[in-house]
Amino acid sequence: MAILFESSQFSGESLRPALGDDVVVVTTAAELRCAVDASPEETLAVFGPDAELETALDFASAQRVLRPALGVILVRRRIDSTVLAQAMRAGVREVIRASSNGALAEACERSQAVTMQVTARAQQSRPAATTEPGKVITVFSAKGGCGKTTIATNVAAAIAAGKRRVCLVDLDLPFGDVAIMLQLFPERTLADGITMSGHMDELGVGSIVTSHSSGLDVLVAPLDPAEAERISPALVTDLLTQLKRMYEVIVVDTPPAFTEPVLAALDMTDVHLLVATLDVPAVKNLKLTLEMLQMLNHSADKQRIIVNRSDAKVGLTVADVEEALHRTIACEIPSSRDVPTAINKGVPLVLEQPNHAVSVALRNLTLLDTTIVPQKPAAAGRHSTVKRVPFLRRGSVTA
Ligand SMILES: Nc1ncnc2c1ncn2[C@@H]1O[C@H](COP(=O)(O)OP(=O)(O)OP(=O)(O)O)[C@@H](O)[C@H]1O
Ligand SMILES: [Mg+2]
Repeated sequence: MAILFESSQFSGESLRPALGDDVVVVTTAAELRCAVDASPEETLAVFGPDAELETALDFASAQRVLRPALGVILVRRRIDSTVLAQAMRAGVREVIRASSNGALAEACERSQAVTMQVTARAQQSRPAATTEPGKVITVFSAKGGCGKTTIATNVAAAIAAGKRRVCLVDLDLPFGDVAIMLQLFPERTLADGITMSGHMDELGVGSIVTSHSSGLDVLVAPLDPAEAERISPALVTDLLTQLKRMYEVIVVDTPPAFTEPVLAALDMTDVHLLVATLDVPAVKNLKLTLEMLQMLNHSADKQRIIVNRSDAKVGLTVADVEEALHRTIACEIPSSRDVPTAINKGVPLVLEQPNHAVSVALRNLTLLDTTIVPQKPAAAGRHSTVKRVPFLRRGSVTA
């Protein structure tokens, strides 16, 4: 099937033979939207010679993010370099001269072939849908520079290394460092998700994640700080709702402030990893954070307090922090120059040096706490490879 946008009945009729029998003809942008929404499986939209160029370009640039599988073909009476350049920028697959129905039919075939490749690729790269909704882990500290991004990237990489489907989301929107820390060169960022708000789906989210060599998927912060302002709390909620359907664990890195997007993420968070260092301002800020979370009705059961650089000899001790906060510290991460060295190399320390004291502390935190990473259900195939020895089993029962 194809959707044909054409305001002139005459032109519409003349294009029909090239599009086959199954064509829905629409004449306005509103009808086009209805037709597209009504057919989520539709893979081809053709704009006839009388369709407004701007409508076609707007549609193509929106759909290439929302529904990358939907091909857009533009038919024009005259084709010049300006139209071609605009069409290319918008993501139109082909521009065809109105007089050639044969060329249009061939372009439709080529577009369908591209759609098949796009869909196959999306299915390959897409993590298999999880039955249990994924867990959201948000790393937060109201004080800058405590080690949030270091912890978020390493925690996410450690969990992904255990063959879990993990997505790391950089909600430090204006100044996110995750892409740099993982040496990613993203083609898409969270800013490309803005047009998906309200109708986020698996294919859409799949089109904006960047895969890291460790198997981790990443939603990178916008590259332009001006775009960061356009990421609304509603978008964050939509996004996390969809990510929970696609991944077992979603790790969220945050800026050092209770921004609106952060509050939206905290509302959907299963485990808050709250970071402090051994200095009075950091501990004071953590105390205020705990009070704020209590005011927002977030249960203390969800909180894990991490002291980063816990071996720094600066007068305060981990015991002092526990006493000041009336809380137990869940994880102590030592200070090590290997941390910035690994960051500068763009490789998470947990992957580069899994036995490093910092790596062990972070892995223990995430992997031993089943609230953070739920037990993996026993793999069906595993039982079949285990040879059962009947008399041994009998013996163990009677013993
Ligand atoms: N355990 C550690 N040992 C040594 N250096 C560390 C450790 N943890 C973090 N750092 C260093 O501290 C600096 C700040 O870390 P990071 O960027 O993770 O903090 P942040 O809380 O995300 O900062 P911001 O609030 O600016 O986003 C980095 O240079 C990092 O290498
Ligand atoms: Mg950071």
